[in-house]
Amino acid sequence: MIPTIEWKNDTVRMIDQRKIPAVIEWYVCRSCEDVIKGIKSMVIRGAPAIGVAAGMGLALGALSIMETSYGSFLRAFRDLADEMLLARPTAVNLKWAVTRMICLVEEMKELGVDQIKLRLKNESLKILEEDIAINRQMGQIGQELIPEKAAILTHCNAGSLATGGYGTALGVIRAAHENQKHIKVIADETRPWLQGLRLTAFELMEDSIPVTVIADNAAGLLMRRKKIDLVITGADRIAANGDVANKIGTYQVAVLAKANNIPFYVAAPVSTIDPSLENGDLIPLEEREAKEIYQLEGIELGPVGVNALNPAFDITPHEYISAIITEKGIIRHPFNEGISRLF
Ligand code: MRU
Repeated sequence: MIPTIEWKNDTVRMIDQRKIPAVIEWYVCRSCEDVIKGIKSMVIRGAPAIGVAAGMGLALGALSIMETSYGSFLRAFRDLADEMLLARPTAVNLKWAVTRMICLVEEMKELGVDQIKLRLKNESLKILEEDIAINRQMGQIGQELIPEKAAILTHCNAGSLATGGYGTALGVIRAAHENQKHIKVIADETRPWLQGLRLTAFELMEDSIPVTVIADNAAGLLMRRKKIDLVITGADRIAANGDVANKIGTYQVAVLAKANNIPFYVAAPVSTIDPSLENGDLIPLEEREAKEIYQLEGIELGPVGVNALNPAFDITPHEYISAIITEKGIIRHPFNEGISRLF
């Protein structure tokens, strides 16, 4: 498995996901601004990976704060955090990681600024390590839902690259594979950014897990022909009632799964749950540049000047979700009760 992100010699390096699978290359960030740019431009993407990057970005930014008194350091750090919060709006893991880093600074009033900087760096490394451990745990818990032989449909990339490592939805798939289950994966290509074709297929092929890519609009036919036994996706944010924000197109897959009596599972760490939002309609959904729809690597696919709309995420209402897999166990209906027990 190639790494997603690491701290090296006071830089943060991310594998540039815009270039996979053609080129495997590090994108080196020397400042918090570089990390923010990397998140905005999808060098790194996927909710938990964005959380790890936000933590490391702030730790990196702290190193360049010149203030020596605690009060001025905290003010400068909060400014960086405010910038970081604007990087991408939907994945709550970003806010979660930023809050964790700010709380840490607030707890360290008694320490010198140099010590605070060191602790911030260590905390960001801890977020990365914890994320990998959480994904492995979630994988073990979730794979119990997978039959001995199964064709699993997934949407977008909820794999190692979308996290600190191992993956959420792909973590469950990896764990089933490691437990010798005979699984094959059907990966939606995931228009327009093609996370399914470029990243999910790449990761699974690297691990020798059988994978077949389909156009997003082929999922219904395959379900009706009984070629799919279950669906697993990741999530960018889960509201208190179990509504899920995930990559655009997830909602359609969930509706099709229900119409065809196929279980639809969501795998996500507790840090992806936002209990402060009562339902999915309150989740901010990112809209990305229209050119992602009508251009491919700079080539115009449509008539020049065409209007296009590019919502990057949608909401799957909880009634379409069979269960939510977390590192703390499997949550079933009624989700609001299971989720409130977690917090
Ligand atoms: O726009 P992206 O690629 O960041 O969107 C990613 C997704 O929607 C993933 O499915 C989600 O973050 C879960 S990742 C473990």
